[in-house]
Amino acid sequence: MDVNDYMNEHRERMLDELLELLRIPSISADPSYAGDTLKCAEVVAEHLRKAGADNVEVVATEGYPVVYGEKLVDPSKPTVLVYGHYDVQPADPIDLWDSPAFEPVIKKTELHPEGAIFARGACDDKGQFFMHVKAFEAMVATNQVPCNIKFMIEGEEEVGSVHLEDFLEANRERLAADVVLVSDTGIIANDVPSITTGLRGLSYVEVEVTGPNRDLHSGLYGGAAPNPINILCEMIASLKDEHQHITVEGFYDDVAELSTEERTAMAEAPFSEDAYKKSIGIGAVEGEAGYSAPERMSIRPTLDVNGIWGGYTGEGAKTVIASKAYAKISMRLVPHQDPDDITSKFEAHFKKIAPESVKLKVTAMHGGQPAVTPTDSSAYQAASAAMEMTYGKVPVPVRSGGSIPIVASFEQILGLKTVLMGFGLDSDAIHSPNEHYGLFNYFKGIETIPHFHAEFAARHA
Ligand code: BES
Ligand code: MN
Ligand code: MN
Repeated sequence: MDVNDYMNEHRERMLDELLELLRIPSISADPSYAGDTLKCAEVVAEHLRKAGADNVEVVATEGYPVVYGEKLVDPSKPTVLVYGHYDVQPADPIDLWDSPAFEPVIKKTELHPEGAIFARGACDDKGQFFMHVKAFEAMVATNQVPCNIKFMIEGEEEVGSVHLEDFLEANRERLAADVVLVSDTGIIANDVPSITTGLRGLSYVEVEVTGPNRDLHSGLYGGAAPNPINILCEMIASLKDEHQHITVEGFYDDVAELSTEERTAMAEAPFSEDAYKKSIGIGAVEGEAGYSAPERMSIRPTLDVNGIWGGYTGEGAKTVIASKAYAKISMRLVPHQDPDDITSKFEAHFKKIAPESVKLKVTAMHGGQPAVTPTDSSAYQAASAAMEMTYGKVPVPVRSGGSIPIVASFEQILGLKTVLMGFGLDSDAIHSPNEHYGLFNYFKGIETIPHFHAEFAARHA
């Protein structure tokens, strides 16, 4: 039987199983969901077993476990290591969901006329890694596993994969492979396939500014007492100049500049500024002078406030000068910026610009290395050929702005390159309320993945 026929025959069940998986709130960031997250790992393991994987194991780590499984068909054939994550982002703000985040529903949208699954994790990454489990099931059931396949599905990606490097170190043999295959990124549009060729890194800090030793009456003290909220705002505002360049000393020292040829090639990927503005409801795009919007979102580093708080934020007015103000700040990094180096540069700079009137604390949160993936490898070519078969178009290589920290570690620790063959759309609202994943995308992924394995095996014959 043909893999495709198998897929068509089992379409309904393949969808129902994903919906069932989406009902498990495996939120890694929130300890109150620890039970669900652990249960999710077991459920994933059971799916791998049923699909035909051998040596399936829920491998304990210092944090949430990694689900492992494999099918070793022939030592002379190449091995593909499939990576994904079963953990999801918190659903907050829950009021903004049109339907409950962990009760998946299928609805049509403008970009998904065939329907999309609305649920937290639908696209990031349950819907996407599960395509691999279902494609694998179809390959096993039809006796068409063209190479060795290993699965490694982790549960801490959304909190920085902090224990995963140890897992890689401790499992070198078990994870030995020729390439890593990941579906946790996107395509340009359902009729414009693309393959991600780079991810940004991340440095994430929390800052605390302390002014007076207690909250003060803003009338009695205001004017002379330093207001940490005002001061924090001024400090943050000074982190970019009038050209939107980041002012942190040394911030751009290691930034890899792209050649004119590379930038010209990038500009080939279709991008409509109008559609972009409309899709997120903004009046104008902004950003660093001298770069296009797609470049600002991928090959250039950023600095963004992710949250800021302090003082009185309840109902009505309260006249107060707060003692403390806080902000969470993320910096997206590009090759060859190093997250630890950028964090210390930020800390040194922020301390330098703090006025004498306040005390400052900078806490480093998780980080991640940027990564670029080759386009001249047999694995990239296999992915390109596979997508061309199912989309009828050669996919465009694109650098993405998001981060998957473990991709750099696959290279550093295991010596493995990665192929980022994702199927989501930027508009799928990952990490946001009403996250969704197109049925078209889910089934297109299941259809494309077996071609990848076949094409990759053929290139190694
Ligand atoms: N799957 C995303 C990253 C992504 C999405 C890359 C779309 C490219 C296109 C991943 O789950 C994610 O959210 N990563 C975090 C990393 C962080 C928690 C260390 C991110 O980018 O914020
Ligand atoms: Mn993801
Ligand atoms: Mn994510």
